[in-house]
Amino acid sequence: MNINRRDWLKKGILATAGLSAASAFIQKAEANTLVRKELQLSLSPDFELQKSFAGMNPPAVMKARLGANENPWGPSEKTKQALIASISESNRYGRQGRADLIKLIAEKEGVPESHILLGAGSTELLTASMVAYGMKGKIICGDPCYISGNEEKIPMEKVPLTTDYQYDLSAIEARLNGSQSLVYITNPNNPTGAILPADQLKAFIDKVSDKIPVLVDEAYIDYAKDPKAECMVGSIVAGKNVLILRTMSKLYAFAGLRVGYAIAKPEILKTIQPYCSGGFDISVPSFAAAIAAIKDVEFQKLTLTNTAASKQFTYDFLTKIGYKYIPSSANFLLFPIKMKGSDLLSKLMAEGVMVRKWEFDRQHWCRVSIGTMDEMKAFSEAFTKIVS
Ligand SMILES: Cc1ncc(COP(=O)(O)O)c(C=O)c1O
Repeated sequence: MNINRRDWLKKGILATAGLSAASAFIQKAEANTLVRKELQLSLSPDFELQKSFAGMNPPAVMKARLGANENPWGPSEKTKQALIASISESNRYGRQGRADLIKLIAEKEGVPESHILLGAGSTELLTASMVAYGMKGKIICGDPCYISGNEEKIPMEKVPLTTDYQYDLSAIEARLNGSQSLVYITNPNNPTGAILPADQLKAFIDKVSDKIPVLVDEAYIDYAKDPKAECMVGSIVAGKNVLILRTMSKLYAFAGLRVGYAIAKPEILKTIQPYCSGGFDISVPSFAAAIAAIKDVEFQKLTLTNTAASKQFTYDFLTKIGYKYIPSSANFLLFPIKMKGSDLLSKLMAEGVMVRKWEFDRQHWCRVSIGTMDEMKAFSEAFTKIVS
């Protein structure tokens, strides 16, 4: 039906207007259809959560919100002050602060300002990338990875992880045959939390990026041991066809404030920019807050220290009760469970604890975000009660 309508639209316009203007219009119309379809991507996690919890009565008090990898320690005091100080500008579209934020991010990343594109969270930029490259071919990615559950919306080719739950870079390289338009790598990966050794990923980029651009989704890179050494900004500085996506939702506690950015050379940013919201993305208070949060190194350190302590507590708890886990370089961790994920989710939810479930490698898995020590204690108590 859609195709017929599109053909009809094509014929009608070609008959009445100049060819180039018409095809530009059609391309835009087709892209808009895709944009609308792809925007579901941003809704899918919550939709999945709603489906998981369908038929359950959520408890009145949530003891631990460990389902969305948020930062429970934020927003920081300095972020809040910046928000309050700029709130009276929120009647204006987001211009004031945009240039300052781009300058600050470019300095932090060591790239020219022309290499930065802002978005309302990295979801906006990820969605735009899926539309821009998804129209040209398949997106080749790991299975599972952050986008792998969206195969109905994105044309994709999924490549299973290795036996130690890492992205299989050689298998991806071997599959490249011209039908793919983009390699998508979540690093650290979500849901596994595993990070690729920087030298391996860099060597992969060196080998393939002349043929196909590589998108590295570094949403959790701030939790790596040495983010500067483990991120792929160096490949961009070296002129490679690499697109990095970053979010402020995690380390900076901006999940609800919605600030993310892309780093790439301008030719690549120009490919995705037409599918972004073009300056109507970030609010003036969010700009002010983002500038304050990036400068607030104390809060970032506090988050990393607290995350490490809560993560260690959770590792120790799982080991004590005889459960294995995948060592995580992010603010969540994934471990195999001995019951159906949906059963665990509903039982934990009844105890006021929210987590996520996964199913791959013929196993059921639980992904638990790293929250405050109280939240991890609530999780461990509820989990013990359920499995014992
Ligand atoms: C790997 C990954 N990429 C992107 C996002 C989207 O983040 P946001 O839109 O909040 O910036 C998430 C959110 O959890 C994520 O896990």
